[in-house]
Amino acid sequence: MANIILRCLPGRVQGYEYSRSGNPTRKCLEEAVAAVDGAKYALAFASGLATTVVVVNTLKTGDHVICMQDVYGGTNRYFQQVVRNFGVEISFVDCTNMENVKAAMRPTTKLVWVETPSNPMMEVTDIEACASVVHSASTAFLVVDNTFMSPYFQRPLALGADVCMNSATKYINGHSDVVMGLLSTNRKDLYDRFKFLQNALGCVPSPFDCFLCNRGLKTLPLRMKQHQASGLAVAKFLTTHRYVQKVLHPAFEDHPQYEISARQTSGSSGMLSLYLKGGLEQATAFLSNLKIFTLAESLGGYESLAEHPAIMTHASIPEAERVALGITGSLVRLSVGLEDEEDLIADLDNALNAAFSEKKDQ
Ligand SMILES: Cc1ncc(COP(=O)(O)O)c(C=O)c1O
Repeated sequence: MANIILRCLPGRVQGYEYSRSGNPTRKCLEEAVAAVDGAKYALAFASGLATTVVVVNTLKTGDHVICMQDVYGGTNRYFQQVVRNFGVEISFVDCTNMENVKAAMRPTTKLVWVETPSNPMMEVTDIEACASVVHSASTAFLVVDNTFMSPYFQRPLALGADVCMNSATKYINGHSDVVMGLLSTNRKDLYDRFKFLQNALGCVPSPFDCFLCNRGLKTLPLRMKQHQASGLAVAKFLTTHRYVQKVLHPAFEDHPQYEISARQTSGSSGMLSLYLKGGLEQATAFLSNLKIFTLAESLGGYESLAEHPAIMTHASIPEAERVALGITGSLVRLSVGLEDEEDLIADLDNALNAAFSEKKDQ
């Protein structure tokens, strides 16, 4: 009887009173993500970008943000074309060099945003060194976008980051049927604020998407092992190809941050970028001749995807900035999926040969 009266009292919530504020399926996913990220807390959002919006909503006018110069185009667009309008200052910095981070720090710096490896240049930031710079010079918090690695290969919180962020649309879900973002943290103050904003801003995923993402998470280790093996096989093949100028892969010894990458990760995903020997024309011909790799912007799913960053994912970055970052007409990004390795290599070989023979014919 006492219980019934308690349940009926206004404001005395015993469980889940409204699905935006919380629901059992989302909670189940959030607890699983906290476990794989080695975190006390995790929260799920409607997309990777929605997660970024929530993080940025902890700031106020006059605050300063340092953002890795090479980040996902949508993150760059949001900072440059939206956040700046609210009087928050942003410095885009090459965070692969800690001296640049130190020099960019201001008394008003409240957020440092790093993506490692970065999209699409595969640049690696030393998370431990960056956390130490950020924490010794400011009250700012460090967020690492871990989308390219997933928790299976990199755990930013253990390396000193305050927040680990993932576009779960990619490796964590892995089945290309969900758009979702996740963040995890060990800091109660940040968690409380993010949890408040999750409800206040309302950018939450549906319970069904949470169910799907939980399903995807269960096979993350198996998928990541295969992405790594096929990604390396494809990358090695491409380095030997006569029409490929350069392959960008953090597990290669010629990568500028190879040692940092080897120290802070336990492997590599299926992500890599390459410069073709030609220019935009050959890159376009190459992409249009692929048969197994699908031309698409996403990444981290079971299927292999290829895209042209300058025209697709990073088109919103002003051209001069893009070129300065190395995102030129001959750059192509690959997300190596779970198909047969030999078929993938044959597909790339055929498309490269076709692209360059098309040029000769002209
Ligand atoms: C590295 C990275 N971070 C964040 C995002 C944004 O995620 P979403 O598409 O889930 O909003 C993307 C999307 O491609 C990404 O590649």
